[in-house]
Amino acid sequence: MSDFEHVHETPPPGAAADWTIAQDWRSYSQVEHDTWDTLYARQMQVLPGRASDAFLNGLHALDLNAGGIPDFAVINPKLQALTGWTVVCVPGLVPDAVFFDHLANRRFPSGQFIRKPDQLDYLQEPDIFHDVFGHVPMLTDPDFADYMQAYGQGGQRAAGLGVLPQLARLYWYTVEFGLMQTTAGLRIYGAGIVSSATESVFALEDASPNRIAFDLERVMRTLYRIDDFQQVYFVIPSIEALKAETLKDFAGVYERLQGAEDIAVDAVLAEDDVLTRGTQAYAGRGGRFAA
Ligand SMILES: [Fe+2]
Repeated sequence: MSDFEHVHETPPPGAAADWTIAQDWRSYSQVEHDTWDTLYARQMQVLPGRASDAFLNGLHALDLNAGGIPDFAVINPKLQALTGWTVVCVPGLVPDAVFFDHLANRRFPSGQFIRKPDQLDYLQEPDIFHDVFGHVPMLTDPDFADYMQAYGQGGQRAAGLGVLPQLARLYWYTVEFGLMQTTAGLRIYGAGIVSSATESVFALEDASPNRIAFDLERVMRTLYRIDDFQQVYFVIPSIEALKAETLKDFAGVYERLQGAEDIAVDAVLAEDDVLTRGTQAYAGRGGRFAA
């Protein structure tokens, strides 16, 4: 997640110039390893039949259920052999330019810490479970791997053009909260969904959210919420199609977006290809904060 406020402008003490830190796998306690195992088991109760094949295959290929928090020294050679990506540790959220540089070089920055046992359901900052369980399996898919690198390269260009908020929405509605159409039905590929037991069910099955066919400019104009389940999910036809979108020249896209108004999270436009028109009942009740 690149779009949160961050505290530091320069690497904190102990971090390298590119903001990476050692994972120091031996420093994790048994309680922390158990937290990973608990979260993993809980997700596997809900993900078969809901998560995309690309995600489930990646999970299997990297053997992320070998017992406790994965050791990057063990999973990186497997990931690198598949798509050239590696995972690196960072001390929390990093500046946009640092984040984009890692992605552009096929390095995925992950938090080092894991949530406490009493915070299993909701965290404000991404931890290693969100980052590794949620994001890394998709990086084993060759097309998704290319898409993520292209996103990092696009971020470096967008920063100079003043269109980072628009590009961040693309990341949000694909990498974090994307759904995919398959012959077997809708499936999840977004890390923010697959790492949440409750949103995995909500995103696919609840009547509240809108589910709208992916359109690049529509997505880049749409606001999002970071504090609760999404009110709209965008559905890609395939990972190949998503990757093809990023191979377009964004210059014309950005030009058109300059004069375009932002779109509210619950809006449905006349030109939308709507798969599910949501009731918005969940948000209407106050969502997570309902009494
Ligand atoms: Fe994330």
